[in-house]
Amino acid sequence: MTAIRHEIRFLLNGRKVTLTDVPPERTLLDFLRIERRLIGTKEGCAEGDCGACTVLVGRLSGDTLVYEGVNACIRFLGSLDGCHVVTVEHLKRPDGSLHPVQQALVDFHGSQCGFCTPGFVMSLYALWMRVPNPSEAAIEKALQGNLCRCTGYAPIVRAACAISSYGGVDTDPLAAEREAVTAELKALRDGARVEIGQGRERLVIPASVDDLAHVLEAEPEATVVAGSTDVGLWVTKFMRDIAPVVFIGGLEALHTISEKDGTLSIGAGVSYSEAFPLLATHIPAFGRLIDRIGGDQVRNMGTIGGNIANGSPIGDTPPPLIALGATLTLRKGDRRRTIPLEDFFIGYGQQDRQPCEFVEAVHVPLPDPNTHFAVWKISKRRDEDITAALGAFAMKRASDGTVASARLAYGGMAPTPKRAAAAEAALVGNEWTRETVERAVIALEQDFTPISDMRASAEYRMMAAKNLLRRFFLETSGDPGPLEVARDHKEIAA
Ligand SMILES: Cc1cc2nc3c(=O)[nH]c(=O)nc-3n(C[C@H](O)[C@H](O)[C@H](O)COP(=O)(O)OP(=O)(O)OC[C@H]3O[C@@H](n4cnc5c(N)ncnc54)[C@H](O)[C@@H]3O)c2cc1C
Ligand code: FES
Ligand code: FES
Repeated sequence: MTAIRHEIRFLLNGRKVTLTDVPPERTLLDFLRIERRLIGTKEGCAEGDCGACTVLVGRLSGDTLVYEGVNACIRFLGSLDGCHVVTVEHLKRPDGSLHPVQQALVDFHGSQCGFCTPGFVMSLYALWMRVPNPSEAAIEKALQGNLCRCTGYAPIVRAACAISSYGGVDTDPLAAEREAVTAELKALRDGARVEIGQGRERLVIPASVDDLAHVLEAEPEATVVAGSTDVGLWVTKFMRDIAPVVFIGGLEALHTISEKDGTLSIGAGVSYSEAFPLLATHIPAFGRLIDRIGGDQVRNMGTIGGNIANGSPIGDTPPPLIALGATLTLRKGDRRRTIPLEDFFIGYGQQDRQPCEFVEAVHVPLPDPNTHFAVWKISKRRDEDITAALGAFAMKRASDGTVASARLAYGGMAPTPKRAAAAEAALVGNEWTRETVERAVIALEQDFTPISDMRASAEYRMMAAKNLLRRFFLETSGDPGPLEVARDHKEIAA
């Protein structure tokens, strides 16, 4: 029998907080600013883009305390059970002096109006704890999710390079309280399910993955929330009623990622940041793609499971996963089924997911040394932007040089992430030559009828999809010729 608790418990700046009244859609930012008057944390966009609301959330991963920067504006209060929330107010030293990160920003003129500054401080703080002497590239990556409209980034980066000269990580307040916080978070683990609220206005935090399966059977209408980087915006931007809510982000068993017999299994709770090291090692092109999803805060919260489950045609991970031949395990009660990922996407906003069923894991066959794999994302900005079109390609050649297998999957080209069946057919069995590829390029017109929207016109999308396939050819064939040679489709098709 699962024990049930009717309160959430977490640490806020080292002090224990217990709450019995937690509306399911209450954000951490509103709680901090409105209820606790911790107004150092700012609200800029309320959609995870600007980073003004960045705070650190510490959680136990096994027995290790891990701190990550998150966007408080789209993080739900209810998801913080068992965590340590650290806001900019906690950085002050006992004598009232500024923290090294703050002092460096002052001295290097890294702040003007100051609105964005607490968010930059928290992002740089998270980086400094991990990498005390970061490279400029690491700093830029850590700041992908922080926008400043007045200072300019050069002084901020200069400040970031100098932080360690102001004091070592060993003098840091979080380092000093680390053992005590770890012990307190361990003491908060009681293995209970959390249930708060009445009727529809309820939130549930299951005690385990088995318990999640039971909870969903009893709550078929509930909104499953993993990292809330999509669902958070449903609340802050679209004022949607998401109750009742089931928070799954804290379920450690869903955070596992493992490699066995050439397959990577990624639990539905694995965040982009957690997945990055293994993905980047085994499939470097996939690692580079992850680097372009949101900023660090979004990558720390957002999950690959959520990216799949939301079924968006412009989610970045489904096309490369489909190209690699990934399968998806869905679970309903005690029953599991595993399907090819591409079959999960039925139509716009429609997935092969039954009521009460949830995504448990995705399994990714690692490409063997004979497989050429690439994925490229096209968006208006390099960082922090949503895809206009994305192409993912996995291709194997036979010993005679012909194409033995080809899986081409695109995002942004159809109502779902989708394979290019006609283009694949034009490739398989034929020599991997410019002429073959140009036939496949023409076949893409049979595969896709993209739409025009604010991100790109239909014509642009089609041209980008074609050129990505050509790029794949050029990068895998060693053919150095100019792209223009292959422009005249009619001539080649004749
Ligand atoms: C600033 C910003 C930038 C972003 N940039 C990108 C980007 O570059 N590329 C991109 O692809 N996306 C981007 N996103 C979207 C988002 O980060 C991803 O879609 C993310 O992977 C969603 O995961 P999540 O865990 O946050 O999902 P949630 O928001 O928690 O959930 C998303 C959906 O999936 C469902 N769900 C989640 N987990 C499960 C499960 N285990 N079983 C069943 N249903 C489940 C939820 O009910 C919901 O319908 C961005 C978002 C923000 C805020
Ligand atoms: S307020 Fe802009 S990211 Fe949260
Ligand atoms: S200092 Fe003004 S927005 Fe950054």
